[in-house]
Amino acid sequence: MLPRCAVSVCHVLVLVLCLSAAEDFDWTKNNYGSFYYGTFPAGFSWGAGGSAYQTEGAWDQDGKGLSIWDVFSHRKGKIQQNETGDSSCEGYYKFKDDVSLMKELKLNHYRFSISWPRIIPTGIKSDHVNEKGIQYYDELIDTLMENKITPIVTLYHWDLPQVLQEKYGGWQNISMISHFNEFANLCFEKFGNRVKYWITFNNPWSVVVEGYETGEHAPGLRLKGAGAYRAAHHIIKAHAKVWHTYDTQWRGRQKGFIGISLSGDWGEPVDISNQKDIEAAERYVQFNLGWFATPIFHGDYPQVMKDFVGSKSVQQGLGTSRLPTFSPQEKSYIKGTCDFLGIGHFTTRYITHKNNPSGRSGSSYFADRDLAELVDPRWPDPGSEWLYSVPWGFRRLLNFVKTQYGNPMIYVTENGVSEKMLCTELCDEWRIQYFQDYINEMLKAIRDGVNVKGYTAWSLLDKFEWDEGYSERFGLYYVDFRSKNKPRYPKASVQFYKRIISSNGFPNQREVENWRRKSVETCSSSNQLLAAARRESKEHAEMPKVWPLHDEV
Ligand code: NOJ
Repeated sequence: MLPRCAVSVCHVLVLVLCLSAAEDFDWTKNNYGSFYYGTFPAGFSWGAGGSAYQTEGAWDQDGKGLSIWDVFSHRKGKIQQNETGDSSCEGYYKFKDDVSLMKELKLNHYRFSISWPRIIPTGIKSDHVNEKGIQYYDELIDTLMENKITPIVTLYHWDLPQVLQEKYGGWQNISMISHFNEFANLCFEKFGNRVKYWITFNNPWSVVVEGYETGEHAPGLRLKGAGAYRAAHHIIKAHAKVWHTYDTQWRGRQKGFIGISLSGDWGEPVDISNQKDIEAAERYVQFNLGWFATPIFHGDYPQVMKDFVGSKSVQQGLGTSRLPTFSPQEKSYIKGTCDFLGIGHFTTRYITHKNNPSGRSGSSYFADRDLAELVDPRWPDPGSEWLYSVPWGFRRLLNFVKTQYGNPMIYVTENGVSEKMLCTELCDEWRIQYFQDYINEMLKAIRDGVNVKGYTAWSLLDKFEWDEGYSERFGLYYVDFRSKNKPRYPKASVQFYKRIISSNGFPNQREVENWRRKSVETCSSSNQLLAAARRESKEHAEMPKVWPLHDEV
């Protein structure tokens, strides 16, 4: 017989286990405050990321052609403070330093993108291939490999060659499919012996909605209500074509994986007992993630998109839906073209049903959805206006992917939080909190059975943040953009993320609290270094023709 105290300890343990099982695994409840201590599956891949236009700089160097972002950012009034990515983090020159930062973090992978016009200046392969561009990516990949960091490479992170925009109208034109396929094929040929993870497109939702509907992003078109659907149609077909190219011509030899990276905010019904809100929230996700994922996993657009865009088009007196259709052959060609799904996730919205009457003049992607987005004012939003920290939404989104698309292999390709430009505070406790909570929700999702294989913190460095210029900083490392040499300084979150990586998760409460304390302690010395460097750079700026000197951290 067990001694009495042992029995009661057992009872308490069972109770604790039952409670934590109920709390931790019921993803239909918002588990405010419940934290799951545990580790990730062995071999889980930890990484960080960036993209070509956001970090490389060297926009007109070594034979690179112009991209739509080079041209867009040089137009007055398009970007905050009229900033450009001309030099950005100077990643083109500083990639070796950046790989050292990754090594310091003990990253398993690094996600970056290839600038199409850097290796094919006009976008058309038969015109010219730029050997210097190839050489740059060769060296970057080799440096990563030498440091045992797996490259995860995106082929299209928004920087379409400008010539293709001017000649054909960019993604409005079906000819992009073959040009993109030739570019992808060249990348497989040159880099595929070392690159085993390919992403065709990054966040096509942004490309088509912000590029062709609202015009906030390059190429800055406002083709309301139809342009975004047409661009998406070509992008989905281009994705499928490139997947088949890899599958038939390269996979046998190179043995890699090829997928797509989709952005997915979670949409939660405002009133979970109201069927209209439940359906509206589902529509929100289907018009975003589902728009691209459903054709790729099931062969066609989500039924709800076909229904809503179709009936709005009829009400507008149009003969056909503004949402294009796939032929039966196209459906079977597109279905199943995803070895892994990349998920970029940052935030959540509450959703309620809202009828948008469809006048002829008022056709738009947003009006097609018949919904309104709301936020809870208590949600923290330290940086970007749109980015509220709502960790539980992440777990829900991941479970949605699991149930809707047959539990695919997932790599989280972006997750992180920003702060405002003027913030020179390297002790980023709010980012530590964000990472801790979001990564924990991902761990719970894995315990729910979601097949997540890797996580990419967004981003390694502060960088050009599209139409927001440099006003929002997502980096683990602070970049001093005012200094010519663009020195990098570690924020406190570097230390914290590093500890999550080396423990492969969250061992126990005491240790995690210790990590937080230690991370914040170490950042004060980096703060002093940064402040000193800024003082020095002011003094030097007053002296003509002398560039400020900076030691890197
Ligand atoms: C998604 C985009 O892919 C990425 O480039 C950007 O930095 C983040 N959103 C944050 O806005």
